[in-house]
Amino acid sequence: MTDDDYQVLVDFFDGYTSGFITRNTNAHPHITKKEHTARVVENMVFLGKSLGLARQQMRMAKAAALLHDIGRFHQFETYGTFSDFASKNHGALGVGVIREHRLLATFPKVEKRQILRAIALHNAYQLPFGMDGESRFLTQLLRDADKLDIFNVVTRKYREADTAENGYLTHNLKDDGQISKTLMDQIFKKQLINNHQVQSLNDLKLLQISWMFDLNFKETIQRVDDLGYIPLILSTMPDSAHLAVLLDFMKAHMVAN
Ligand SMILES: [Fe+2]
Repeated sequence: MTDDDYQVLVDFFDGYTSGFITRNTNAHPHITKKEHTARVVENMVFLGKSLGLARQQMRMAKAAALLHDIGRFHQFETYGTFSDFASKNHGALGVGVIREHRLLATFPKVEKRQILRAIALHNAYQLPFGMDGESRFLTQLLRDADKLDIFNVVTRKYREADTAENGYLTHNLKDDGQISKTLMDQIFKKQLINNHQVQSLNDLKLLQISWMFDLNFKETIQRVDDLGYIPLILSTMPDSAHLAVLLDFMKAHMVAN
């Protein structure tokens, strides 16, 4: 991939997403995802520089970041939700959009396969065994860069008064003030919580905290620590002694990694 190839992808992305923003009366979800994408590309550059990526690797990483959520626009327009559970897997939808528009058709086979694989797996619970090293590395970078911005978006949202306008970000989950003991126990065992276990807003917050056990690079963990995302999320949950213990536990985890 050349710099020009990357620029063609950027131009396509702009035109494609602008279409959704102009033709939908409810453009907010589409704008949100377009802005999220720009920040994931920035996070990718940040991570790539910290890890000393070569120019070619950096272009691949940026291309994967740029296209990772391209399935989101069609998803929201068609199903009115960002919940994969209630609609379709947006990683797979994205791969479909890329194929339909032949976006990577002129790319070397290996590059095309790596980018598609990273996009298909960016939102998977676990990566499959037996991925080749380059593919795994690209996918891990993408997953970390994506999570960094999701932390950014949700910590802003949790602190604002809840508005119906952006309820779609939390899939309109109920806020019942309960904290699940099962999910807390999973965090203390350093286990990643599964999407399927989420039934309330506090469950979602705990799932996001458990992402700390699924980050791939110490640079990402450091960034989450620097930006204070974990204490921010916890500060929006019902105050309890358990949560204070959880915060100490997470702080220790971040220091140790
Ligand atoms: Fe995504």
